[in-house]
Amino acid sequence: MAISCISMALFILLTPCATALAPPSNITDLAALLAFKAQLKDPLSILAGNWTATESFCSWIGVSCSRHRQRITGLEFNHVPLQGSIAPQLGNLSLLSSLELRNTSLVGPLPSELGTLRRLRTLVLPNNSMSGTIPHTLANLTRLELLDLAGNNFIGGIPNELQNLHSLQMFQLADNDLSGEIPQDLFNNTPSLSIIHLGSNRLTGRIPRSIITLSNLEKLILQKNLLSGPMPPAIFNMSQLWGLSVARNNLSGPIPGNDSFHLPMLQVISLGENQFNGPIPLGLSTCQNLEMLALSVNNFTGTVPSWLATLPNLTIIYLSTNDLIGKIPIALSNSTWLLGLDLSENNLEGEIPSELGHLRNLRNLSFANNQISGVIPDSLGNLSDLTQIDLVGNKLTGSVPLSFRNMLNLHRIFIVDSSILQDGIEDESRPPENFSILNINLISIIELALLCSSVVPEERMPMKDVVVKLNKIKSNYNLQLGEHGYIHQKT
Ligand SMILES: *[C@@H]1O[C@H](CO)[C@@H](O)[C@H](O)[C@H]1NC(C)=O
Ligand SMILES: *[C@@H]1O[C@H](CO)[C@@H](O)[C@H](O)[C@H]1NC(C)=O
Ligand SMILES: *[C@@H]1O[C@H](CO)[C@@H](O)[C@H](O)[C@H]1NC(C)=O
Ligand SMILES: *[C@@H]1O[C@H](CO)[C@@H](O)[C@H](O)[C@H]1NC(C)=O
Ligand SMILES: *[C@@H]1O[C@H](CO)[C@@H](O)[C@H](O)[C@H]1NC(C)=O
Ligand SMILES: *[C@@H]1O[C@H](CO)[C@@H](O)[C@H](O)[C@H]1NC(C)=O
Ligand SMILES: *[C@@H]1O[C@H](CO)[C@@H](O)[C@H](O)[C@H]1NC(C)=O
Ligand SMILES: *[C@@H]1O[C@H](CO)[C@@H](O)[C@H](O)[C@H]1NC(C)=O
Ligand SMILES: *[C@@H]1O[C@H](CO)[C@@H](O)[C@H](O)[C@H]1NC(C)=O
Ligand SMILES: *[C@@H]1O[C@H](CO)[C@@H](O)[C@H](O)[C@H]1NC(C)=O
Ligand SMILES: *[C@@H]1O[C@H](CO)[C@@H](O)[C@H](O)[C@H]1NC(C)=O
Ligand SMILES: *[C@@H]1O[C@H](CO)[C@@H](O)[C@H](O)[C@H]1NC(C)=O
Repeated sequence: MAISCISMALFILLTPCATALAPPSNITDLAALLAFKAQLKDPLSILAGNWTATESFCSWIGVSCSRHRQRITGLEFNHVPLQGSIAPQLGNLSLLSSLELRNTSLVGPLPSELGTLRRLRTLVLPNNSMSGTIPHTLANLTRLELLDLAGNNFIGGIPNELQNLHSLQMFQLADNDLSGEIPQDLFNNTPSLSIIHLGSNRLTGRIPRSIITLSNLEKLILQKNLLSGPMPPAIFNMSQLWGLSVARNNLSGPIPGNDSFHLPMLQVISLGENQFNGPIPLGLSTCQNLEMLALSVNNFTGTVPSWLATLPNLTIIYLSTNDLIGKIPIALSNSTWLLGLDLSENNLEGEIPSELGHLRNLRNLSFANNQISGVIPDSLGNLSDLTQIDLVGNKLTGSVPLSFRNMLNLHRIFIVDSSILQDGIEDESRPPENFSILNINLISIIELALLCSSVVPEERMPMKDVVVKLNKIKSNYNLQLGEHGYIHQKT
């Protein structure tokens, strides 16, 4: 009782003061919207025709208001050209909870004034051309759930202060020009975070260990940066993670083995173009939802695991350019959903299992540049959806099976080893690179012929384009001959 009397007294005392300070009102909101509009070119007159004084701003296009008061809670435009910069006055929309301007041709900086929007839950500005640094003041947006600044031209570092955004669920800064290290403590206090996408920047240093505290993490994309060092091992023990890509960095070290590898939800894993070593982790054999396994261009050792064939949803296996040895597992013929199988640039030996002819959905097959021997199995001709097959750089003998005539979708075929051209008779005196030059150019000509001979006349390439293409092939051919010597050169 006493307390509520005191509160009442305080209320009465303070009210006139508050009024004198001109509290935020719909007049402030209106001024902010007009300032916003004034900075936009609005080439399609989306605002010019609609944001008129005859109607309350609550009925203006792109504007949402609170139910009870005429105050702005949302400002939203997607995929329309607004062209211009964001007015700092938007920082006066004190009840704003959502600012969403996707692909609206915005330029200029992200105003630091937006850091005063304490009720903001959504700040989503992807696919614009905004520039400058990410303001530290965003750290005050402690209710922010979605932060998406991807696909802009932001520079500088990721502010360490953003670790205060403890309501964050989605954090996307991909496709910018951000540099420096990802602050190690950035994710210490963001327990709800489920999506992190920082790909295609110039971030350096190590992957922050604080990521492993995010028990709701579903998607972690750090691809195409300059990150180095090992992955925090506990990343491979996250119960909700379904997408992981750190491809094209400079990460190294082995991946944890069976015991500490537990990713039950994993669907996509892409570790390509790093320096990971050790065996392909056995723990992956427990990822029953795995669809894409991309480990190309690393230093993985050991064999191509036959347990890959036990993963029911696997459609992509990319293991190219590693140090894998042994044979192509026959068991892979059980992976009937496979669309892509690339085992090129390893040290695989033995023959191509004829059972692979069961992979009826396969589009893309490469075993190039291994030590594979024997003949090309007839059964591969059953792969009627195949669009590309590459078997160059092996020790194959015999000739191309006649069954290959069944592969009507094939538009790229690289199978001609010198040994095959000569029907199995090896002749080391012929420089094989000249055959591949011939081969590559013949393929271009065949591709062109296919483009010109479509059944539907409208789909055929116009003659002037054909001439341009033929001239390109001709100059390419001459250039390559110049590099490699004469076609009939004998040593
Ligand atoms: C501001 O609010 C007042 C009172 O709710 C209302 O009469 C007035 O029309 C509003 N102004 C605008 C621009 O919406
Ligand atoms: C502005 O756009 C909104 C939403 O499309 C529409 O409801 C409103 O009638 C428009 N106002 C004018 C003046 O065109
Ligand atoms: C982006 O906006 C432009 C208009 O400015 C539109 O033509 C284009 O389709 C939009 N892009 C997407 C992916 O929606
Ligand atoms: C709104 O913001 C601008 C710039 O951030 C500021 O100059 C102005 O005084 C603010 N207040 C009102 C009531 O518009
Ligand atoms: C956050 O808000 C407080 C109080 O308004 C202010 O003192 C502080 O400088 C702000 N921090 C940032 C990073 O903007
Ligand atoms: C946004 O840009 C990225 C590349 O920066 C692109 O991949 C994506 O499709 C674009 N999305 C939209 C909706 O424009
Ligand atoms: C990649 O990492 C290695 C150490 O793991 C380091 O020696 C090398 O300089 C790094 N390369 C680049 C381009 O950062
Ligand atoms: C891998 O771990 C699982 C479960 O932790 C266990 O059942 C299995 O035997 C292990 N496999 C090997 C080869 O260690
Ligand atoms: C994996 O995570 C579980 C619970 O999430 C934890 O109990 C276990 O210790 C972790 N294992 C390793 C090796 O980090
Ligand atoms: C495989 O994919 C199907 C269909 O997309 C899905 O229903 C299923 O849950 C996935 N996982 C397993 C283990 O089959
Ligand atoms: C990975 O393999 C490449 C090419 O064989 C080699 O240059 C590089 O030193 C290896 N890196 C590591 C970390 O073993
Ligand atoms: C393919 O799977 C079946 C059923 O799981 C199994 O009996 C067979 O041995 C497998 N084939 C190969 C070549 O591993």
